Amino acid sequence: MSGTNADLLDRKNAATPRGVGVMCDFYAARAENAELWDVEGRRFIDFAAGIAVCNTGHRHPKIVAAIREQLDYFTHTAYQIVPYASYVTLAEKINERAPGNYPKKTAFFTTGAEAVENAIKIARAATGRSGVIAFTGGFHGRTMMGMALTGKVAPYKLNFGPFPAEVFHAPFPNPLHGVTTTDSLKAIEHLFKADIEPKRVAAIIFEPVQGEGGFHPAPADFVRALRKLCDEHGILLIADEVQTGFARTGKLFAMQHYDVVPDLMTMAKSLAGGMPLSGVVGRAELMDAAAPGGLGGTYAGNPLAIAAAHAVLDIIDEEALCDRATQLGDRIKANLKNLREIVPQIADIRGPGAMVAIEFCKPGSEHEPDPTFTKQVQAKALERGLLLLVCGTYANVIRFLFPLTVEENVFDEALSILQDVLKESAAVPA
Ligand SMILES: Cc1ncc(COP(=O)(O)O)c(C=O)c1O
Repeated sequence: MSGTNADLLDRKNAATPRGVGVMCDFYAARAENAELWDVEGRRFIDFAAGIAVCNTGHRHPKIVAAIREQLDYFTHTAYQIVPYASYVTLAEKINERAPGNYPKKTAFFTTGAEAVENAIKIARAATGRSGVIAFTGGFHGRTMMGMALTGKVAPYKLNFGPFPAEVFHAPFPNPLHGVTTTDSLKAIEHLFKADIEPKRVAAIIFEPVQGEGGFHPAPADFVRALRKLCDEHGILLIADEVQTGFARTGKLFAMQHYDVVPDLMTMAKSLAGGMPLSGVVGRAELMDAAAPGGLGGTYAGNPLAIAAAHAVLDIIDEEALCDRATQLGDRIKANLKNLREIVPQIADIRGPGAMVAIEFCKPGSEHEPDPTFTKQVQAKALERGLLLLVCGTYANVIRFLFPLTVEENVFDEALSILQDVLKESAAVPA
């Protein structure tokens, strides 16, 4: 199918439902590392990376080669029917690299939401309990349990209920907006009094850095306290690393920034550099709680995606992408900090490694979110060819998800666009 962006937009509106909301009004033709081109030949610098999927860039030659090689052998046997070695060896690599000095097992799935669903299934099977505690602002996917766990109503939960029962939310720490670690922990204690006794809680699930919710890092004392609470009550701690994984935060997994370990961890997105693959890794005995046949899926652990994931792990090592994430993250943070005086809407610049975000609030206010200004920055950047994503409960945060393999000159070009756009937007506020 070919056509101009305008033709395609009309056809898209006629052929696909509005529920699949689409941010851009141009259509991708090709992409390479941190750049993509639309069907009319216009170039964009891609600081969205397919929503945190292409930490290793678009079409990394090693990933393309790995997929091509696998294409010559087989594309699908259904791992649960005829298994293949590459699934097993990838599980071995993940078990070795995931945080936690204990025997581990890994199961592969297809999407992030599916990994989350399965982590909850495993936690329930292992504990014989039903309750799950999640956090406001958290995002865990668009399946029924994913939505139930997600702590943001619009647009994810609108008109889709009822959701699976026994899911409870506590506020996630957010120092800028006055929610402390103590507040969050008190809210969990309150849940134990008002809603569910701790011995019926199977798991607490959290993102080490909330992604969709606004790139809020979980404070170290909060994660430590969650671990302690879980240990006291026999609750499992699940880290949802779907967005934080694979070098984005300067470590292979964000949990490696903390001095405690989770019992189960979900992963997806940059695991397979653009191919659909997700996984759950965890303590071996917990992972074995589900009965044979209880986990899996027709496409779960697709061989092409598994081949890509092997290449991704090699690339992260060979190109030292954890270090590069830290370097690039430091550069963008320093750059943005220099603008604080002339862009009074900048309320916060945060995030570990290259999981960096900038939050905008109304100047002179007590941190009143400014989604209009945020949207303006995003729109102006896009006009100049820089693709940026907005996030946050109040849509007032811009998150940077550039490929960690981005070329220096492309990164510099993006920083310079960002600077111009921020200065311009501050001079003529929305
Ligand atoms: C932390 C987290 N969990 C789960 C999901 C759901 O992943 P998917 O969209 O692949 O189902 C996402 C997606 O953004 C996510 O960021």
